[in-house]
Amino acid sequence: MRAVLLSETGGPEVLRVQDVARPEPGDGEALIRVRAASINPIDWKYRRGLSSKQLPAVLGNDISGTVEQSQADAFAEGEDVFGFAPRGGYAEFATSPAPAIACKPPGLTHEQAAAIPVAGLTAWQALFDRGGLQRGQTLLVAGAAGGVGHLAVQLGKHAGARVIGTGSARNREFVLALGADEYVDYTAQDVAEAVGDVDVAFDTVGGATTATLVPTVREGGVIVVIAGAPPEEQAAERGVRAELLIMSPSAEQLAKIAELVAAGEVRVEIAGTFSLSQVAAAHELSEAGHTRGKLILTP
Ligand SMILES: NC(=O)c1ccc[n+]([C@@H]2O[C@H](COP(=O)([O-])OP(=O)(O)OC[C@H]3O[C@@H](n4cnc5c(N)ncnc54)[C@H](OP(=O)(O)O)[C@@H]3O)[C@@H](O)[C@H]2O)c1
Repeated sequence: MRAVLLSETGGPEVLRVQDVARPEPGDGEALIRVRAASINPIDWKYRRGLSSKQLPAVLGNDISGTVEQSQADAFAEGEDVFGFAPRGGYAEFATSPAPAIACKPPGLTHEQAAAIPVAGLTAWQALFDRGGLQRGQTLLVAGAAGGVGHLAVQLGKHAGARVIGTGSARNREFVLALGADEYVDYTAQDVAEAVGDVDVAFDTVGGATTATLVPTVREGGVIVVIAGAPPEEQAAERGVRAELLIMSPSAEQLAKIAELVAAGEVRVEIAGTFSLSQVAAAHELSEAGHTRGKLILTP
């Protein structure tokens, strides 16, 4: 099969489409013909060697496709499924353990479904499992137009929170149209001067941004981070809880998010769709850090 194999770390030019052996599904796994895979920043972090991964490896984790062969009771050949492919998703075929996939509702395209796993579960787990977000509370989403952020804004609204998003000027109308109540352009305004007393701050940006968000949180509130170390000291000084979330697969949460998308309650923004041979261009876009929604590969 054709797959994007990472054999050495480096720039986008190290991404090569190669013929590799089709993976064999193990006990409790399904072999899936991949119709769409999505790109996450962790993929180019592996490519650059910023996060370690044993090489050679097929990159990618998020897939949607059709079961070709099943060794799992829960899935039958011919069924459309989506979820996590731990042995790589930028490929014509991928294998997934049954607990890491869910049935794709017919109302979702494979592109939409492939966009959900990492970004959707990260948003869900940050808001509800770590943030404990409740109806009527205020949620700040930093990076509200990104893959994770645009889903977090909508999941927060759906849960009955007041949502404030941050991003640059070009994303203002997009984020407000997702349902955000307020938008702060971080290039024009200091976010902590514009926003205060939030119950849950969700930082998808990381770096120097994280510490600047702590003052937006009320005493007793929480800041959840996913892209760097939690700001424990600054948070403790304000009586705020700081949490780092590392997303974990959940077929149940995947199914819930997909239902919301199929029902039109949550919309998945596709920033661009690329063939496997265009993977380098897609990585360049992701790495630039200004993607609106998700980038998709269609093997
Ligand atoms: N811990 C975990 O389990 C986990 C899971 C998923 C993702 N992550 C990490 O979380 C991060 C976000 O992932 P993602 O997929 O959402 O990335 P992404 O789609 O590449 O995010 C891009 C978005 O970030 C916005 N942005 C950039 N700088 C900003 C700033 N200073 N303030 C506000 N918004 C800013 C951009 O908006 P503008 O163009 O308007 O600037 C753009 O819309 C990545 O570092 C990823 O590796 C971690």
